[in-house]
Amino acid sequence: MPARSTYSVPQRVLHWLMAVLIFFNLLFPDGMNAWRRLVRHGQTPTPADISSANIHAYAGIAILLLAIVRLGLRLVYDVPPRPDDQPAFLHHIASATHFLLYALIFAMPLSGVAAYYLGIDPAAFVHAGPIKILLWAVIVLHIFGAFAQHFFFKSDVLRRMTIG
Ligand code: HEM
Ligand code: HEM
Repeated sequence: MPARSTYSVPQRVLHWLMAVLIFFNLLFPDGMNAWRRLVRHGQTPTPADISSANIHAYAGIAILLLAIVRLGLRLVYDVPPRPDDQPAFLHHIASATHFLLYALIFAMPLSGVAAYYLGIDPAAFVHAGPIKILLWAVIVLHIFGAFAQHFFFKSDVLRRMTIG
């Protein structure tokens, strides 16, 4: 399929839907954290505690399933080419950032599932520690890049992921 000048509508919808879900889980993990604290201290969570934890778990599993659909769409529709008037190192940074974001939207839910459903402690550690911190760092870099493209380089990169 030839290169497109914009992301397809399903790709854009998925990008923003997933961004909302990911920010939700990053910013409001309290129910899950409370469940984990109880379990670690040998206490029995109430049905209400489990329901709160499940909101985090189900949002995270939705992210995992949408990530699979999104990778499939990427194979079908491809992605628009990078702006051709910019230095190569910016293209490399963008590619590396996108690759890492993809890796992390799989690693984050998979480590969460391993921690929550299988009780694997090292998975809980990497989920709530290194992977979470890396995800935040890459998201900040990604948002900075998107705004730099729009306001500094004045490219169409932000437009093609929003109004198309
Ligand atoms: C992209 C998806 C996800 C994101 C962004 C995410 C984010 C987070 C965050 C920010 C925390 C709190 C870490 C802290 O204490 O600072 C957390 C904890 C936790 N999450 Fe997730 N999560 C995701 C998916 C999942 C899934 C799918 C599950 C399980 C089915 C899960 C299970 C857990 C567990 C068990 C904890 C407690 C870990 C601990 O405190 O040791 N998460 N998550
Ligand atoms: C949790 C948050 C986010 C994740 C996981 C994420 C992930 C991604 C990924 C993987 C791509 C590459 C395109 C693809 O293959 O699908 C992308 C593209 C893009 N994202 Fe995000 N994104 C997030 C949040 C944001 C936010 C908040 C903004 C706006 C400030 C943004 C703006 C863009 C833009 C403009 C592109 C197109 C880049 C290009 O065409 O080179 N993203 N995003």
